[in-house]
Amino acid sequence: MIAGNWKMYHTVSSSLDYLETFLLALPENPVADILLAPSYPSLFSVGHKLAGHPVKMAAQNLHFEEKGAFTGEVSAKMLKDCGCHAVIVGHSERRHVFGESDDLINKKLRAGVAAGLDVIFCVGETGDERKAGKTSTVIHSQLEKGLKDFPLENCKGLTIAYEPVWAIGTDVNATPEQAEEVHREIRQWVQTRFDEATGESIRILYGGSVKPGNAAELLSKAEIDGLLVGSASLDPKSFCAIIQSVQ
Ligand code: PGA
Repeated sequence: MIAGNWKMYHTVSSSLDYLETFLLALPENPVADILLAPSYPSLFSVGHKLAGHPVKMAAQNLHFEEKGAFTGEVSAKMLKDCGCHAVIVGHSERRHVFGESDDLINKKLRAGVAAGLDVIFCVGETGDERKAGKTSTVIHSQLEKGLKDFPLENCKGLTIAYEPVWAIGTDVNATPEQAEEVHREIRQWVQTRFDEATGESIRILYGGSVKPGNAAELLSKAEIDGLLVGSASLDPKSFCAIIQSVQ
């Protein structure tokens, strides 16, 4: 899977312009599943354009309740209705800029899959945590708390994204070896928490300063099943170059 997280970029009209260029430049039979994650206002229009298309759409966030007096929030049901196939949960900007707790992330993950959306669950340590040798502890704790009471039967809709905070938007990506090491630990954790088969089949994406120039090298590692791309997905040609580089 190669997912493009547009963050708070692109209006409805620039999203539609993007799609026009992107769909023309896209390789005919991409080897990876492709996912675009526009901001809320663009979801309906992008979803409409992508209806029936192999390129799928994800939202960047959701609220865990189905409906209610939650001004400014959007439910999983609303996202599905716009054509979303998946939703990103626990992105480092949600955790660190908006203060989302592991408990809130857990509620969102369970609500997303319960409503039939695939969930892309992001975990990652800060630069200070890595320097202090706490990477494993932090990742394990995020996994433990985020996936508390998460049912085994919903794991087919679960993708985990390892996104070291120090690599997001910094132009300093984790080396393929650094990423692979953490991916291996995540997979082992999933095997212990769920079962062997789930650990083997779960998709673990890497995200953090992925560019056309480093995507193929990252994806060449057996433990890296896909990529979550931020800045380099904002331009359709650069995102296509990433997809092309791993064809
Ligand atoms: P980046 O962002 O590719 O700009 O580092 C990754 C992300 O936020 O998912």
